[in-house]
Amino acid sequence: MFPERIEFVQRKFGPLLSQDDEAIFFNPETPSDCLSLSLDKLVAYQTLFPVVEQLEAAGIKCVQSISQQKFNLAIISIPNSKKLARHLIYLATKAAPEGLIIVDGEKSNGIESIIRDLKKQTKISNVISKAHGKTAWFETPAELEMYKDIPLKIEDGFKTRAGVFSADGIDPASKLLAQLLPGDLTGVGADLGGGWGYLSVKALEKDSISKLHFIEADFTAINLAKNNLNDQRVKFYWCDALTWKAPKLLDFIIMNPPFHYLGRAIPRLGADFIKVASRNLKKSGILWLVANRHLPYEDAIQRHFSSFSELSGSKKFKVIRAENPINF
Ligand SMILES: C[S@@+](CC[C@H](N)C(=O)[O-])C[C@H]1O[C@@H](n2cnc3c(N)ncnc32)[C@H](O)[C@@H]1O
Repeated sequence: MFPERIEFVQRKFGPLLSQDDEAIFFNPETPSDCLSLSLDKLVAYQTLFPVVEQLEAAGIKCVQSISQQKFNLAIISIPNSKKLARHLIYLATKAAPEGLIIVDGEKSNGIESIIRDLKKQTKISNVISKAHGKTAWFETPAELEMYKDIPLKIEDGFKTRAGVFSADGIDPASKLLAQLLPGDLTGVGADLGGGWGYLSVKALEKDSISKLHFIEADFTAINLAKNNLNDQRVKFYWCDALTWKAPKLLDFIIMNPPFHYLGRAIPRLGADFIKVASRNLKKSGILWLVANRHLPYEDAIQRHFSSFSELSGSKKFKVIRAENPINF
């Protein structure tokens, strides 16, 4: 745990941080990660909407990009995407060009290999190992241009970036659902958890769709989707799908719901998305959903829809059409 490690570092090595440091914290997962530092001038860099909501509710200012403002301290809590972890370290060296950079993470997120590589690129002041994780620190300036992430062009010209869902290519489950969507998908709909936009692009090939609400919590993904989609019929919402309410009840919803949150598997999330779908659909509205076959969504579907059927899926994935939402 980050608070435990940073407290240990300060005790063992003397205070690395002082209360009036101008600090930026990349990817804190909880308010307590930030508050444990007792810094008066701390800004959090966080792109996941539900986490931003929690941080801001605790009085922590959040940003989604780095600006001209310079800091003398940057902390990175590494995510489990190695590419994104490196990009955040690169951003930290730009945000604190003459200061201290602290890199922290759990072993399960790959902190050991991140530090191993960092040692090859720059002079690390120290590393400690504690509470299933590691903390390393170094001083800037440091030349870490090679860690900078640049958009990746994948099949069909789509652009993705490090850390977003299916960053290296089109997700096979979404591809399957796109193939099985009916030709006459009509009216106003939504894509819940739209990622970088693949499913919506495919759905919008149907001219009978008049409007599509695109809901996504990841700021990086939604910005990619704005470019990948580029369609006047789409309205983008950077928000938490679990609390989103359609302006008017919808004709259809498409989704490949998440079952991971902050890198951890949370199968309940998919069931929560099903509930959100039912309460945002008209009585005649239809939900089109794809999921890994082993995920137990049928109970949630039965609770929130009067009828459903499985379309011809595959060994790995199931595509479900659910109608008559119950949850009005
Ligand atoms: C399985 S991916 C599907 C992405 C996209 N529809 C596709 O087919 O490639 C699920 C998406 O839901 C997003 N997500 C996770 N939790 C969310 C939430 N609470 N609100 C909105 N989006 C969320 C994730 O960031 C991810 O992009």
